Amino acid sequence: MSAIDYFEKIPNNVDLANDRTLQRALEHWQPRFLEWWREMGPNDFASADVYLRTAVGVDAQGWAHYGTVKMPEYRWGIFLADPIADRTIGFGDSFGQPVWQQVPGEFRSQFRRLIVTQGDTEPASVEQQHRLGHTCPSLYDLRNLFQINVEEGRHLWAMVYILHAYFGRDGREEAEELLARHSGDVDKPRILGTFNEPIEDWLSFFCFCYFTDRDGKFQLKSLAESSFDPLARTCRFMLTEEAHHMFVGETGLGRIVRRTLEVMKEIGSDGPEAIRRRGAVDLPLLQRYLNFWFSSSLDLFGSEACSNAATTFASGIKGRPDETTQYQDHVCADSTFDIEVPDGKGGVMKDTSPMRNAMNEVLRDAYIRDCEIGLKRWNMQIKRAGYSFELKLPSNRFRRAIGAWANIPTDLEGRPVGREEYDRSMPGWLPGASDRDYVKSLMQRVVEPGKMAAWIAPPERGVNNLSVDYEYVRLN
Ligand SMILES: [Fe+2]
Ligand SMILES: [Fe+2]
Repeated sequence: MSAIDYFEKIPNNVDLANDRTLQRALEHWQPRFLEWWREMGPNDFASADVYLRTAVGVDAQGWAHYGTVKMPEYRWGIFLADPIADRTIGFGDSFGQPVWQQVPGEFRSQFRRLIVTQGDTEPASVEQQHRLGHTCPSLYDLRNLFQINVEEGRHLWAMVYILHAYFGRDGREEAEELLARHSGDVDKPRILGTFNEPIEDWLSFFCFCYFTDRDGKFQLKSLAESSFDPLARTCRFMLTEEAHHMFVGETGLGRIVRRTLEVMKEIGSDGPEAIRRRGAVDLPLLQRYLNFWFSSSLDLFGSEACSNAATTFASGIKGRPDETTQYQDHVCADSTFDIEVPDGKGGVMKDTSPMRNAMNEVLRDAYIRDCEIGLKRWNMQIKRAGYSFELKLPSNRFRRAIGAWANIPTDLEGRPVGREEYDRSMPGWLPGASDRDYVKSLMQRVVEPGKMAAWIAPPERGVNNLSVDYEYVRLN
């Protein structure tokens, strides 16, 4: 494995010291990043001592380093997974040829757009979560939030490195812009819709980690297949960080379900009002939050059928997640994919698209299957507790703003309905003002080591074999 050099101003495993021009460019960007972090990051906790992990190498053992750090002193840097010897292009028209160490001129703008779009989501999420620390349900959760925040900051570094190293002046300008756009800003919002949604409570945060960060996982998985090898290596290492974010989302929601079931058992009722009187999250309320974040995140994959997706696949820019192990045909020149589209008469019809054009949908399908895993687990918990309530993912046609189903009103099962029925049913489908107010009322900060807010069960274990009541954050 290639060790990370922490003696440099910018920790890295890309031998930055031997590329003075690049090093200077990045050192110029570094103070701007720190300024952005101080302004838009978890700035009220700058003096807190946080138990964080820092990468010391890029393989699985590279995560062994845990220690107490003040967040502004976190060692953000540039870490690429080790190269794979003789790696060849895994999909598309150039299948089997050697991978590229530079960006081919003809694909430059497509690559730049993809990298900027991915890069934009990283600081966006830090901005979205920037005030959450004040209402943490426990020190354990506070520490996890901060771990995610510093790692999303590191992901920004990952994308900025690629921009600086391979896109010259354009790349440096894009890197500046990544710090200039802000989540929810009226004039300069973040690029993708979901990353402009406010995250004001921890229920939204856990949903975001579960659904929206999982989109990130799938985008990174498909970029990790890219023929542009430095990008692939960057994304491979980012995925090891991303795994923790998925964990926080899934266990966070699972702990909420567990706590709700405890309350239901104690009071002998599943009535939302009674559950709320005990300060827990009733399951229908949780379902409405799931509906919101799932449907919003589905749009991040783009249109069901589009020529852009076909080009990026054909040219070897972006593959499918687990391209090598999950698929037999890596060229997809003449295969097809069935997608469901509106028939224009208030119904649904099948449309057969060339496989390459349907790559966004292929990716979205894989994502949906991955999303279902957590729901199965939570439903098992509910069933074991003796209740028949089932959490469900809404249809991928529900509440879409992009693609064939954009602005076509459907119910949760994806059946097209009239606009009036849609508006009337909305309070049962998505969190309404009273839901949000109630959730907000639960957001009282708990910072006594080992204590949990009343709406969430403790985790099964602490971080890095420490106990749950370890003081993961010392608020100074
Ligand atoms: Fe990320
Ligand atoms: Fe993430």
